[in-house]
Amino acid sequence: MCGIVGYIGKQKASPILLAGLSKLEYRGYDSAGIATIEKDFIKVAKDKGRVENLYNLKETKELEGTIGIAHTRWATHGIPSKINSHPHLDITESFAVVHNGIIENYIELKKFLEEKGYEFISDTDTEVIPNLISYFYSQEMEDSQNNKNACLRVLKAVKNACEKLIGSFSIEVISKYMPDNMIVVRKDSPLVIGKGNSENYIASDIPAILSYTKDFYLLNNFEYVILSKDNIKFYDNKLNEFTKQTTTITWDAMAADKGGYEDFMIKEINEQPTAVRETIGSRIENGKCIFPELDFSKEYLSSLNLIYIVACGTAMHAGLAVKNTIEKLCKIPVIVDIASEFRYRNPIVNEKTLCIFVSQSGETADTLAALKLSKENHAKTLAITNVIGSSISREADFAIYTHAGPEIAVASTKAYTSQITLLTLLTLYLAETLQTISQNEIREIVDELLSLPSKIENVLKNIDPISIIAKNMFKEKDVFYIGRGVDYVTSQEASLKLKEISYIHSESYAAGELKHGTIALIEKGINVIGIITDSNLVKKTVSNIEELTTRGAITTVIVNEATEKQIDKTIFDNVIVVPETISYLSPIVSIVPLQMLAYFVSKEKGLDVDKPRNLAKSVTVE
Ligand code: F6R
Repeated sequence: MCGIVGYIGKQKASPILLAGLSKLEYRGYDSAGIATIEKDFIKVAKDKGRVENLYNLKETKELEGTIGIAHTRWATHGIPSKINSHPHLDITESFAVVHNGIIENYIELKKFLEEKGYEFISDTDTEVIPNLISYFYSQEMEDSQNNKNACLRVLKAVKNACEKLIGSFSIEVISKYMPDNMIVVRKDSPLVIGKGNSENYIASDIPAILSYTKDFYLLNNFEYVILSKDNIKFYDNKLNEFTKQTTTITWDAMAADKGGYEDFMIKEINEQPTAVRETIGSRIENGKCIFPELDFSKEYLSSLNLIYIVACGTAMHAGLAVKNTIEKLCKIPVIVDIASEFRYRNPIVNEKTLCIFVSQSGETADTLAALKLSKENHAKTLAITNVIGSSISREADFAIYTHAGPEIAVASTKAYTSQITLLTLLTLYLAETLQTISQNEIREIVDELLSLPSKIENVLKNIDPISIIAKNMFKEKDVFYIGRGVDYVTSQEASLKLKEISYIHSESYAAGELKHGTIALIEKGINVIGIITDSNLVKKTVSNIEELTTRGAITTVIVNEATEKQIDKTIFDNVIVVPETISYLSPIVSIVPLQMLAYFVSKEKGLDVDKPRNLAKSVTVE
C-alpha cells in the first residue's frame, strides 16, 4: 500500500522518480507526488489521480533538482485529493516527507503539535511526521551545546520524531537544511536502497529501481540512513554508525516490464510454466526433495502436534490447497488460517507447533504480525515468500522462496501456483524426514511435479474457448464457483480472481453445501462454474451441478482428461478440459483456465486488469 521512490545523484531527479512511481503504481494509485530540493528550497508537484497525471503537471516540468522523493498513494486517512497527496511539508516548508504505512497515534501527535502552534492542512496521518521533525529540529537548534552539522541535526530530529510514532512507516525526508542529503528509515513497512555509481536510489520494492542497479541494501526496522550521491551511512536506533552489506538481486530488469504483453496479469499467467519450473529449481536431487536451509530433525518433526499455515487472500488459498497433502503425507494436522483472524483469537501455538507464513510480497502487515505472535509463543516459524529480504522472510526463523520473479499485477497468479509447488516440495521433505512416505510415493509426486510446466503450457495453448465463455459472461451480475475437496479450493481462488478484477459478484461453494441455503439464489441464466478433477468425486459434483441446471443455471465445467470420460458432456453448456495430474497437484493446473476467464471478462468490460479499483498489491496496513 503506497509506493515510495527516492533519487539522489547527478541527474535531474524527476524523470527517474516518475519512472519509479509508474513501476510502483500497483501499490496504490489514487494520487501521486514528487518533491525535490531546488537550491535552498523544496518544490512540490502533486495531484489526485494516477502517476500519468503527474507527467503533465506544470509543477512537475519545473522540477530541476537532483535530489527528490516521490509517492503513489493508496488512501487510508483522508480522501484522495491534492491536499492529502504526498509529499507533505512541515509548517515552515523546510522538510518534505513521503510515507508508506499508518501512524496510529496521529491524533494525539497532532494535538501535541497544535498546542505548540503547528497547523495542519490535510486530513492525513502523515502530515504529523514533517511537523514533528520540524519541532525536534527547532529543539536541536535551541540546544546551545549542540555543534553538530545540519545533517546530523536533522538525523537526530528524524530519530526523535520516529520514536514518537506508533504504527508502521517507511519514510523519506529531504530538507532545505541539508541540500545534499536525504534521510530514510523504516519500521514494519518495506524500503530498499539501490546502490549506484555516484547516485543512489530508494524504493518500496526492488522492481521499481531494478533497471538502475542490482546491488541493494535491505533495511531493518529503525535503521536510519543518510544518503548523499557518493555515500550511504547507516545508523542504529542509538544513532551509532555501522556498516551494512549489499545483497545482489538476480532478477532480470526485463522481468519487471510487460515484455510485449498487453498487461502484466496476462504476462504473469503465461509465465507460470517458468515460475513453477524455477521454483522446483534444484530442490530435487536423486528423486528426493532437498531443503538445505531447514534443519528439521525427525525428532523435532515427530514432536509437532499441529502445523499452522497463515496467510491472506490468494496466499491463504495456496495453504488450503496443500492442507490435505500435508495431513495425508506427514500425518500431522494442519490448520490454515487467515492472518488477520489468527492474530486476534489467541491461537494455540507453542513449541509443538510449526507455523508457516505464505506471502508473495513478504510484507503483508497481518501476516507479519501473526508471525511475530507465533515467535512470542515459541513456535518455529517458516516463511514462504517471493521477495528475498522481505520483512516476513527476515523475521521468520527459516525462509524459503518461490522463484516466480516479480509479480506486478495486483491479482496474484504465478505466485499462487509457485506457492503450491513449493509447499508440496516442502511436504515431501517433511514426510521423508518423518519417514511417513514411501520412496515410490515420493517418486510419483516428484515426476508429476516435473511434468507440471508442460501441462500448464498445454492449458495456455487452448484459451480460445475461454475467451468465448468470457464474451457471454461479462455482463453478468453474479457467478457461482463450486467444487469438492481440492476443487473447492480452486473454486475459492477462481472466484476471488473474478471478483477482484471484473467487479462481478461471485461466490464459491463446496458443491455439497449449496443445497443447505445458497441454492435459493440460483435462477434462470445464472452462471455456475464447476471444477471436477477428482475421479472419486465426479458423480457427486455432477449431481450437484445438475440440481442447478434444473433450476436454469448456465454451466461451465473444468474437467481433466480422466474425469472428462466420466461425464455426459451434453448436460453442460461449456466443458474445458485440462491435462490430468495427481489430485495433490491438480489446483496448479485447473486454476489456469479460470485465471484466464477472469482476465478475459475484465478485458471485455474494458477495466484496468492490472490495477483494479480499491486494491493495492502489497497490503502493508492492517
Ligand atoms: C489476490 C491477491 C491477494 C494477496 C494477499 C496476500 O489476487 O493478490 O489476495 O494474495 O493480499 O498478499 P501477499 O501474498 O503479498 O501476502
